Amino acid sequence: MQLPALVVLPFWVIGQAIAWNHASEVGLAEAWRSQKYALVAFILPNHRASEALEPEWSAIEKEETDGRIISVDCAAEPKVCEQQGVNSFPAIRLYQDQGARMERYRGPRRASSIRSYLRRALRPVLSTVTDKNLTVFRGVDDVVFVAYLRPKDTVLRDWFHTLAKRYRDRFSFAVTMTEQPSSAVHCYNNVKGAEIVQGDLNAVDSLQHFVKLCSVPLIPELTRRNDIEYNSKDKSFVHYFVSSVDERDEYLSEMLPLAKKYEEYLQFTTIDATEYPEMLPVYGQQPGSTKVLSVYHPSNGQIFPQRRMEKLSAAVVEQFLLDIVGGKVRPWSADLLSGGDTGHDEL
Ligand SMILES: *[C@@H]1O[C@H](CO)[C@@H](O)[C@H](O)[C@H]1NC(C)=O
Repeated sequence: MQLPALVVLPFWVIGQAIAWNHASEVGLAEAWRSQKYALVAFILPNHRASEALEPEWSAIEKEETDGRIISVDCAAEPKVCEQQGVNSFPAIRLYQDQGARMERYRGPRRASSIRSYLRRALRPVLSTVTDKNLTVFRGVDDVVFVAYLRPKDTVLRDWFHTLAKRYRDRFSFAVTMTEQPSSAVHCYNNVKGAEIVQGDLNAVDSLQHFVKLCSVPLIPELTRRNDIEYNSKDKSFVHYFVSSVDERDEYLSEMLPLAKKYEEYLQFTTIDATEYPEMLPVYGQQPGSTKVLSVYHPSNGQIFPQRRMEKLSAAVVEQFLLDIVGGKVRPWSADLLSGGDTGHDEL
């Protein structure tokens, strides 16, 4: 395949041109001792994923000033990396309490994701909020959970704390006191602009389910692991194939409002065309292509591949969807399998 190689190449070239500013073993120890925290990237030189992290890392370095953002070249400092048990690259770790407390970062290697993670990690597991600062806290993260607790609900508080400990690397959590007759947990999904309330709080299970329900992204990345989960839903799919994180980001920033508008009927997703190349022909697309879109109705198996566009805008996609509903586009699978005419499609 030509395309993935081409997509990867610019990272590689840029990576070579920009220099990391690596810390030595002494520098690392010094950062631990003197700073509130140290966020450390352990990298290998001439290693593609490490090089791709460099521009993201310098963006973080410029903005975070109350701690230390550093990098360690594991080819130059093998001993440090071995001591820290680093065995895959790049590894991103957060050290607090003078290096006594270490956490591994597991999210996407993007400046925005890493920065959000840092904010969460530097906060207490559970923040305490009052009427005065509740509104601000509700907006601090993409997904925020606030437990409105009656003072006597100490068991619930413990459950919520357990939950917060488990998910704190991804979401933000706070408690506030309430005079209401019963406690409740509210979730604010600021990407979707949605608020969900869970009043039935008599099991840890129901809270866990609630976390999943509220945090499911508007446009998830479809993988083998979550495929079944999304397929069991009674919605039509709008699948978009991407071959890099940049392509996915670009698509998301264009399509989120549209995905929100039709949330009730349509499940937008992206599929990694490099990882799942076999899915392209399944959805009526050319092998090896990227940035192509297909609509799929699970209820009747119909597939509507959109022909590749130079610039895919939300308006173009919306028109395509309306044309499908209006019967102006023929389903690809029916053409292929039966040559049948199906004008009435449900979205
Ligand atoms: C909100 O305000 C209260 C009272 O002033 C304070 O104790 C608490 O730390 C604040 N919470 C946050 C998240 O700033």
